[in-house]
Amino acid sequence: MDSINIVYFSGTGGTEKAAKGFESSFKEAGFSVALFRMKEIPEDYAFEKASLLLLYPVYALNAPQKVHEWIKCLDRVSCVQTAVVTISGGGEICPNTASRVSVIKKLEKKGFIVTYEQMLVMPSNFGVTAGEVLSRLLLEVLPKKVQTITNDIAIGISRRTKPLIIDRLISLIARIEHIGAHRFGKNIKVSDACTGCGWCCEHCPSGNIAMENGKPVFGNGCNFCLGCIYGCPCKALDAGMGKSLVFKDGFDLKRLEKIPPLEDADIEALAKGYAWSGVKKYLID
Ligand SMILES: Cc1cc2nc3c(=O)[nH]c(=O)nc-3n(C[C@H](O)[C@H](O)[C@H](O)COP(=O)(O)O)c2cc1C
Ligand code: SF4
Ligand code: SF4
Repeated sequence: MDSINIVYFSGTGGTEKAAKGFESSFKEAGFSVALFRMKEIPEDYAFEKASLLLLYPVYALNAPQKVHEWIKCLDRVSCVQTAVVTISGGGEICPNTASRVSVIKKLEKKGFIVTYEQMLVMPSNFGVTAGEVLSRLLLEVLPKKVQTITNDIAIGISRRTKPLIIDRLISLIARIEHIGAHRFGKNIKVSDACTGCGWCCEHCPSGNIAMENGKPVFGNGCNFCLGCIYGCPCKALDAGMGKSLVFKDGFDLKRLEKIPPLEDADIEALAKGYAWSGVKKYLID
């Protein structure tokens, strides 16, 4: 039986939803599947024994810092067939196209053979919202997109992209975001509404939150995922900096999923301009 390890990093649940979709579709395709949240991979786990599917959200045209750190700590392998799928809010437009370049380079240095790369689009959780209708459409189309990628990987289709040099450069420079992310985490404010439930500590994908005297304390390793701010059941967390990038009304995939299925949505009208052209293409393809 073919085996695959699916490893994902997710802040607000979009990448996790995709990863769980892949878990089901690979099982249906007859694979033996092990699914891991990145921070929960057992120490000394042997990646040598199965193919790898790595999933992460695009942050500032690149990968979350935790993904780079994880690869750095991996043991060398030989002949592990690997696929890398990024999850973005804006789709495969320049310079998002370079969001896998540095990660793939690092994986290849460790001996992983990356034969497949692709991008999924999920509702944007940062900066500019896709709006309810586009978000709902993106959620609706996800199972079909996951199935297509699963079929490609299962039958051994090779898919590698060649991002423009300028996009690679911008993606590299944008990694400066990691410094901003650390500062962002240090400045998250905890209000009196906090009940000390520990949800944020458990769910932080970077392991950056500790509970001290019944309150969350933020370390220096924030990845700016926004999961704690949007997910706190008491809405007790607020950004102390970069407020304009955080949605005032929050971001809740489960709520978006409850919007009834849509018919006859005018994608052309909803996804106007270059910034949304990747989303439009993704939905129409
Ligand atoms: C700090 C940050 C930076 C982001 N940068 C980009 C980006 O450069 N391009 C893009 O298309 N989406 C960007 N996004 C949107 C996310 O990639 C997208 O919403 C994704 O679905 C989030 O995945 P998650 O729910 O698993 O955390 C960014 C989100 C965050 C929080
Ligand atoms: S999830 Fe919210 S209420 Fe729970 S400990 Fe964290 S900040 Fe406090
Ligand atoms: S501290 Fe909050 S924003 Fe930062 S990585 Fe953890 S959950 Fe995400």
